[in-house]
Amino acid sequence: MKVHRLTPTHVAEYRAFMLQAYANEPEAFTATVAEREPLPLEWWLTRVSDQPDATELVFGAFVESRLVGVTGLRYKLRPRTRHKATLFGMCVLRDFTGRGIGRSLVAAVFEQALLMPELRVVQLTVTQSNIPALRLYESCGFVPFGIEPFANKISEGFVSKVHMWRSVDPDVP
Ligand SMILES: CC(C)(COP(=O)(O)OP(=O)(O)OC[C@H]1O[C@@H](n2cnc3c(N)ncnc32)[C@H](O)[C@@H]1OP(=O)(O)O)[C@@H](O)C(=O)NCCC(=O)NCCS
Repeated sequence: MKVHRLTPTHVAEYRAFMLQAYANEPEAFTATVAEREPLPLEWWLTRVSDQPDATELVFGAFVESRLVGVTGLRYKLRPRTRHKATLFGMCVLRDFTGRGIGRSLVAAVFEQALLMPELRVVQLTVTQSNIPALRLYESCGFVPFGIEPFANKISEGFVSKVHMWRSVDPDVP
């Protein structure tokens, strides 16, 4: 398994992967297929842009050249918040879970975060009932700092989201 940053050449594969993820894991994601499927390819290209001013980037995990897992990192530009970034869009194909791929994707995000001198904190949100994802993030050092009730409306009702954070500096607990 190899993890590397996606580039514009991966845009179609990434789009297909995420649309499948939204369809298969509706409780895990805020985005829906209905929202994202009509978006032009340019929207997806901003996620995998390789330009130096890109504010979003995505890492992919590949097994024998097949994309089997992804996650993204989104920077903020405003002076008072650009020390924080957001980990988003984490998903590993079900047939490939339990092999350390999620953990490797988080590690790739933090390797990247260390290259950004101003970045101090990575935050994320995770649906409260999503135990595999909560355990993954806890095992990678993320700490919960609040629960947002009624965060997302899904077909069965409302779900809460746990907000988590982790320092980029490995020496800060
Ligand atoms: C959550 C998810 C990304 C985990 O990916 P993964 O590749 O299976 O995770 P890893 O194999 O790297 O597991 C790392 C750690 O996470 C925890 N973990 C992962 N799956 C778990 C499960 N089903 N139950 C309990 N803990 C689990 C364990 O602590 C594990 O460490 P261990 O294997 O040493 O015990 C994957 O299940 C997934 O894509 N789920 C659907 C989409 C989703 O929920 N995305 C998150 C949105 S916030």
